[in-house]
Amino acid sequence: MDSEEGSGLTVQKSRKMKQPEAIRPSPNIKEDKETEDMQKEALNRRNAWEPSVFYSLGNEMFSFTGQEISIRETLDSFGAVIWPAAVALCQYLEKNQEKLGLLDKAVLELGAGTGLVSIVASLLGAWVTATDLPEVLSNLNFNLSRNTRGRCRYTPQVAALSWGHEVQQNFPSSIYHYDYVLCADVVYHHNFLEELLITMQHFCKHETTLLWANKVRFPSDLAFIENIKNVFNITLLEEIPHEEVRIYQATLKK
Ligand SMILES: C[S@@+](CC[C@H](N)C(=O)[O-])C[C@H]1O[C@@H](n2cnc3c(N)ncnc32)[C@H](O)[C@@H]1O
Repeated sequence: MDSEEGSGLTVQKSRKMKQPEAIRPSPNIKEDKETEDMQKEALNRRNAWEPSVFYSLGNEMFSFTGQEISIRETLDSFGAVIWPAAVALCQYLEKNQEKLGLLDKAVLELGAGTGLVSIVASLLGAWVTATDLPEVLSNLNFNLSRNTRGRCRYTPQVAALSWGHEVQQNFPSSIYHYDYVLCADVVYHHNFLEELLITMQHFCKHETTLLWANKVRFPSDLAFIENIKNVFNITLLEEIPHEEVRIYQATLKK
C-alpha cells in the first residue's frame, strides 16, 4: 500500500489497485473529547469575529462547523483548485446538518479535487472516502490530512477512481455501500459525462442519496441534467443565483 509519508492518511494509488476499506471502522472515540475542545475553541474564536473566508498565497481558509479549514491550492490541474459548487455544497451540508444526519454515515465523494467537501463531511461525523484521478490525490491527501487529523470521528480515506465502466470491477457494488454520494462541479466541459453518469448510478443503491452541486455554465450541463433525470428522481434543493450554482438531491428511480 502506498502512503504519503507523515500524512496520517492512506492514498490508494491506481497502479496498485488497492481498494479503500468497504467496512466502516470503529469511530475515533479517543479523539472525541479533543474534537469537542477544538470545536469550542474554534467557535469562541469565530464568535470573537473573524471573516468566514479569507485568502493567503497558495492557501484558502474557510470556516465550517466551527472549525478553520486550510486548503492548499496548486495550478497543477482542474482538481487542484476549489470550485464554486464545493463551497456551496459545504454551506448546504453545514446548514442542513440536522436534516441530513451525516453522523456515522458512509459517504463517497466523486471528483473530490482539493477535498473541501470531504473535509466538511468528515467534520460532521461521516465516514468519508474521497476519490479522484490519481494525479490529484497527493494534494487531496495533504488537505484531508491536515484538516481532519484529531478532529474527526472517522479518519477519511483517499482513493483513485476514474469514472467509467471499470468502477464495477474496481468497486464491486456487492461490497461498497454508501449512504451519501457527494459531487461538486463534476459536470463541466469534458468528455466523460456519460462515464460520470454510469459511475453515479453504480454507487447509488435505492437507499443512497446523491447530493450534487454544480455551476451551470454550458448547454451540455443542461443536457446532463436531462440525462440524469432518466435514471434518478431529482429535486432542486437550492439555487445560488449570483454564483449560478444549483444543488440537487437525487435518488435512483425504482
Ligand atoms: C471542476 S473540478 C471540481 C473539484 C472539486 N469537486 C471542487 O468542486 O472544488 C472536477 C473534478 O473532477 C475530477 N475528474 C475529472 N474527470 C474525471 C474522471 N474521468 N474520473 C474521475 N475524476 C475526474 C477532476 O480531477 C477534478 O477534481
